[in-house]
Amino acid sequence: MFVELVEEEGGDRWRREFAGAPEEAREVRRFLRSLLEGCAFLDDVLLGVDELAVNTIRHTRSGRPGGKFVVEVRWWHEPQDEAGRKNEKVVVWVRDEGGPHEPAIPSGGDEFAENGRGLLTLACTAENWGWFGDESGRTVCAVFAGCRPIP
Ligand SMILES: Nc1ncnc2c1ncn2[C@@H]1O[C@H](COP(=O)(O)OP(=O)(O)OP(=O)(O)O)[C@@H](O)[C@H]1O
Ligand SMILES: [Mg+2]
Repeated sequence: MFVELVEEEGGDRWRREFAGAPEEAREVRRFLRSLLEGCAFLDDVLLGVDELAVNTIRHTRSGRPGGKFVVEVRWWHEPQDEAGRKNEKVVVWVRDEGGPHEPAIPSGGDEFAENGRGLLTLACTAENWGWFGDESGRTVCAVFAGCRPIP
């Protein structure tokens, strides 16, 4: 497993490349779990990013034979805010090899549809999400946040 550490002002960013194969979604979860041990909202991050990994494999060129995608993670732990709480923020970027589609929550959907739930799930677990890029490659970014009393 090759994990790259990118040193940045105010914190570190971790980066790892994955093969665009369905079984790699599990490796993405393992990667996040290993980096975010103790994060108060780890479940939300795992659930939301799992949807992003699966989308990358299903809906982009990363899912073709030999395709790859990259996951980057940054975790901020602010020591304490004025109310005596610990603030945390996790940002995850998932970079794919592009394709004709764009990430979008299906509008006015059929409530019994069997798909079209992934980004909705992300929208429920993340504080915010968005994407940038074009047909040659897109990055979906999600921000997860929370605060809790200092133990
Ligand atoms: N990384 C991506 N690149 C391009 N298009 C995307 C990407 N992620 C999602 N999409 C598009 O956005 C649509 C909605 O994604 P969403 O995850 O909500 O639903 P789904 O993947 O179709 O179904 P489900 O996640 O419920 O199995 C997808 O059908 C696809 O067209
Ligand atoms: Mg999906």
